[in-house]
Amino acid sequence: MKNKTGKVGRNEPCPCGSGKKYKKCCYEKEKANVSNYETLYRQKYNIILKKEKDIQGIRHAGKLAVEILDLVESKIKPGMKTDEINTLVHDYTLKKGAQPAPLNYRGFPKSTCVSVNEVICHGIPGERLINIGDIVNVDVTPILNGYYADANKTFFIGKPGSDARKIVNVAKACLKKGMSQVKPGNTIGDIGWAIQTYAEKKGCSVVREFIGHGVGFEFHEPPQIPHYGEKGEGLELLSGMVFTIEPMINLGSRFLHILADNWTAVTEDGSLSAQFEQTVLVTNKGFESLTPFDL
Ligand code: MF3
Ligand code: CO
Ligand code: CO
Repeated sequence: MKNKTGKVGRNEPCPCGSGKKYKKCCYEKEKANVSNYETLYRQKYNIILKKEKDIQGIRHAGKLAVEILDLVESKIKPGMKTDEINTLVHDYTLKKGAQPAPLNYRGFPKSTCVSVNEVICHGIPGERLINIGDIVNVDVTPILNGYYADANKTFFIGKPGSDARKIVNVAKACLKKGMSQVKPGNTIGDIGWAIQTYAEKKGCSVVREFIGHGVGFEFHEPPQIPHYGEKGEGLELLSGMVFTIEPMINLGSRFLHILADNWTAVTEDGSLSAQFEQTVLVTNKGFESLTPFDL
């Protein structure tokens, strides 16, 4: 929050969102002549830029994430229960010496999220049957040697109808558009702007309640990466930042509700929703996907 002079008042809430007064929060740190961006981002935003050794670790976890998604793609069939996808992901992750981050994360009971049709995200694997014509998102986050990589894909089951084809293609293109904004000097807002502009041009909508996030040392780290926004808004991207981009795109309205299981997010109007997610590293030149798959 800024006053008329453009400065944040010492007694106003800190713009970092801590809920504390500015003078008790970031004011001191800003005064303390921060020598470089790395320190500034760590102290002010809790963003830890990744070093080469960390990047290697996340890249390794990311390769595994893509392998798991490839395995799911090769096995997913009509007639399967979503819990069978969970078993595949769980067993393969352990076989590779990794752990599935979703399991017991804030009480989540399974090792992957499986989100069918109108389910936006956080579908809990269970007895639901996968049918011909469905679209099914599978979201995986292996922890390998302490490093997290997060990725998801939406699969067609059999031959897709025109709505299914449309929403999956738009969601995929949205991730691609978002990723193409990733380079030092651009901002977090540029990513959301590119995604929102494209999705809405196609007559689709962007979910706002769930967003991308820093990742690597933990499942969810700062910064937050909204999939909507204004060009030039938000933090500047710095090389060494690692975060996900994971736009959830609805065929109808952007609104959602959460089922009684406290996890499953579904579209309010029952329309289809699709998502693709990758973990990206900001490099000097632009970006590198640490969970690379074709889009
Ligand atoms: N993988 C999801 C994400 O992209 C988070 C799932 S949280 C869980 O951020 F608890 F449901 F696993
Ligand atoms: Co994520
Ligand atoms: Co994910």
